[in-house]
Amino acid sequence: MADEAKKVVKRTFGVREEEPEFIPNKSMVLQAVRGTRDILPKVQQKWSFVEGKFEQYAKLAGFDKIEIPILEREELYVRSTGKDTDIVSKEMFKIEKREADAESIVLRPEGTPGIVRAFIENGLYTQPMPVKLFYFGSMFRYDRPQAGRFREFKQFGLEVLGDADAAADVELISMVWKIYNEIGLKNLAISINSIGCKTCRPAYTKGLVEYLTQYKKELCPDCIERTKRNPLRVLDCKVEACQSVLKGAPQTTEMMCADCKKHFEEVQKYLNELGIPFELNRNLVRGLDYYSRTVFEIAAKDSEGAQSALGGGGRYDEMIESFGGPKTAALGFAGGIDRIIHKMVEQKIETEEVEQDSVCIVQLGDIAKTICLQIQQELWEAGIHTVTAFGKPSIKAQLKLGNKKGSKYAIIVGQREAIDNSVIIRNMKEGVQETASRKTYLAKIKKNLGL
Ligand code: HAM
Repeated sequence: MADEAKKVVKRTFGVREEEPEFIPNKSMVLQAVRGTRDILPKVQQKWSFVEGKFEQYAKLAGFDKIEIPILEREELYVRSTGKDTDIVSKEMFKIEKREADAESIVLRPEGTPGIVRAFIENGLYTQPMPVKLFYFGSMFRYDRPQAGRFREFKQFGLEVLGDADAAADVELISMVWKIYNEIGLKNLAISINSIGCKTCRPAYTKGLVEYLTQYKKELCPDCIERTKRNPLRVLDCKVEACQSVLKGAPQTTEMMCADCKKHFEEVQKYLNELGIPFELNRNLVRGLDYYSRTVFEIAAKDSEGAQSALGGGGRYDEMIESFGGPKTAALGFAGGIDRIIHKMVEQKIETEEVEQDSVCIVQLGDIAKTICLQIQQELWEAGIHTVTAFGKPSIKAQLKLGNKKGSKYAIIVGQREAIDNSVIIRNMKEGVQETASRKTYLAKIKKNLGL
């Protein structure tokens, strides 16, 4: 038997396969669209790990998965995210209209308005409240690409529809805190603020505009414009001159109505009782119009600037009713997965490699190919991962591939084995081989793999 095996090795391993180095013709190669990128197999493990953590906690907390379309009506965001926000006024990708009277369709820039549309359209409000939903998906914003800012990026989202209690805000913040810590991220900070509700915000906005108007000359051009269209956004302007003007500006929390005040005090009380560290950031307003009461963000303290937020969310108690749904308090959060992965790399956070045992199936000749295709099916049915390269004519090249892919064993079927109804089982590490019949090979492989 050993001699027979050796012979096979000699008979088949002498074939050399040259793989010349390929140099791409740059003038013919197309590149990914600006602001988009490929998430290559070598980083998929990190992505799966992060998405897995989100999904694990979402399910632990009773959230159900939902998928909504990437294409939505532009009006959906105009009426919720807000027509004067950067996202809606400057950053939406519009789909070319096929007919002159067609509605304006865009690529979704965020998930929340689509979730609210789906909640109303599918009558999810008839289910017991709160309805808790989670989702993953690409979002699209036509912004200037830079580190941590893409035109297509992935979010993980959590939405709680039908819960007005401050404890629901803290449930969500505590989940976010837990998930980001379990991912292994360091130096995390949660910032929170309350921006009041439709009862108290108009008076606050009026006071803010009056204040900002006095300092018009010192504000950056964007903030002069924001003062007219979206005054709350001046609060989170990063320009130094605007920051110093803001030092004396009225604060949202000073003018809040009694209900909003109580709600915000309760949020802070629960956070303190749970021992979740947070910072009060009076200037945190977030760039979306639909928020009311609590808004929050999570960031790593070792990042600075507008791209530092690793996720953000808040309440949107008025949105569902404004879309014709029943009055339903709601809140949610979205994490930026691209930024989380980037931060993990920066902070040198490794994920554990999950090694999959595989078997390399090696064939020589047409009859052997048919047998190998059958063997592959049998291995799949036994839950064994396979490595194949049917287009490689040499056994050596096929074994080389198996080695590179980390296969523990190879099953070799040459012309002789095809006729004998047998296979060669090769231990890839030790180079030892044995012959087995087609009837017994699977049991042997399973035993060898400890299955
Ligand atoms: P957002 O703050 O616009 O909120 O986005 C959430 C997260 O997505 C950000 O904190 C950031 O990590 C990531 N992100 C945003 N823009 C980009 C970009 N251009 N490139 C890479 N990552 C980005 C929302 O989208 C709300 N829908 C969150 C929410 C859910 N509020 C209530 N429910």
